[in-house]
Amino acid sequence: MRLAIIPGDGIGKEVTAEAVKVLTRTGEAFGRRFEFEHLPWSADYFLETGITIPSDGYDLLRGFDAIFIGALGDPRTPENRHARDILLGTRFELDLYVNYRPVKLLDERLCPLKNRGPKEVDFVVFRENTEGLYVSIGGRFKAGTDDEIAIQEELNSFKGVNRIVRHAFAFAQSRGLTKVCMADKSNAMQQGHALWQRVFKQVASEYPAVQATHYYIDALAMYMVLDPGQFEVIVTNNLFGDIITDLGATFQGGLGMAASGNIHPGRTSMFEPVHGSAPRFAGKNIANPIGAIASAALMLDTLGLDQEAAAIDAAILKAVREKQVTPDIGGTLGTVEAGTYITNQIHPSRPA
Ligand SMILES: NC(=O)c1ccc[n+]([C@@H]2O[C@H](COP(=O)([O-])OP(=O)(O)OC[C@H]3O[C@@H](n4cnc5c(N)ncnc54)[C@H](O)[C@@H]3O)[C@@H](O)[C@H]2O)c1
Repeated sequence: MRLAIIPGDGIGKEVTAEAVKVLTRTGEAFGRRFEFEHLPWSADYFLETGITIPSDGYDLLRGFDAIFIGALGDPRTPENRHARDILLGTRFELDLYVNYRPVKLLDERLCPLKNRGPKEVDFVVFRENTEGLYVSIGGRFKAGTDDEIAIQEELNSFKGVNRIVRHAFAFAQSRGLTKVCMADKSNAMQQGHALWQRVFKQVASEYPAVQATHYYIDALAMYMVLDPGQFEVIVTNNLFGDIITDLGATFQGGLGMAASGNIHPGRTSMFEPVHGSAPRFAGKNIANPIGAIASAALMLDTLGLDQEAAAIDAAILKAVREKQVTPDIGGTLGTVEAGTYITNQIHPSRPA
């Protein structure tokens, strides 16, 4: 399989190196050949060349089986233009409309919620990934003055809402899950979110075996903390999904633990840890590589290599249980050493 690797900026580079190490070992253990092509697109590359992503960059990416990104963001590029073109650009141009973010607690000691363990914190969030407030439609008038007006439009199309809501229900059915919760703010955002209401009710009626519930996003945030065990699948828009998955990441032990996939079913998709480039952590060998490694497992699972993905997940679980991890989750290892430990636990025979 040909995999595009974009390490990006800051800790993105460090955690990507560990994810590639784990993938390489997994390939050897399972007799699979992964061909990695490292692409230099990053803040460094942008500052050197003035290029965020080459003009044929998205076409190039479409030619791979999957794409892996570390993280993008650098204090030297405060407008984040390169990150927008590389990360958001790839999501939009490759039409990766499903942002798949599992919230799965591996060990009770990592969860900041009282008396909550892996049984209660085990759900997935599907975030709409190509529309909403992130399409950058709008503008600033009289910018920088006291009369400044800033407008940022939220885009909701029937096509966009319908396909992510359908994906959530189809996922639930295919995994034997019985609950899908949709979160919006239709009480206050009465135009765009009325569309979410209409589509959700329509799709839910086609899945009678799935219990469809709805919360306003503010209530959802509260219930995630109070009673996370009630959720199996959550579907929501781009902005809300972005925010609640950081909250979800804290249930898992922090941002360093959370994995994600940007998926268009059947097409080249892109995988990345939920966290950013954490510039203050960069170059110190302290970043937790698990979010990146778990994202690599998600990538293999999406590519149909479920045994290989399960072997990586099992290796991560062993590292967490044995505290062979970085300081953010109670270990003493560096990024490289934590990645090496997980790499050495990859065995084809390990049960899922
Ligand atoms: N997908 C992405 O590439 C992405 C996502 C979010 C933010 N960013 C960018 O990253 C830069 C920094 O943003 P930020 O500080 O808001 O978010 P961040 O996720 O980079 O870091 C926030 C904090 O989370 C913790 N953290 C994050 N990753 C960790 C890891 N692997 N191990 C241990 N702790 C970890 C650290 O305490 C860190 O200070 C910005 O330029 C931002 O735009 C990029």
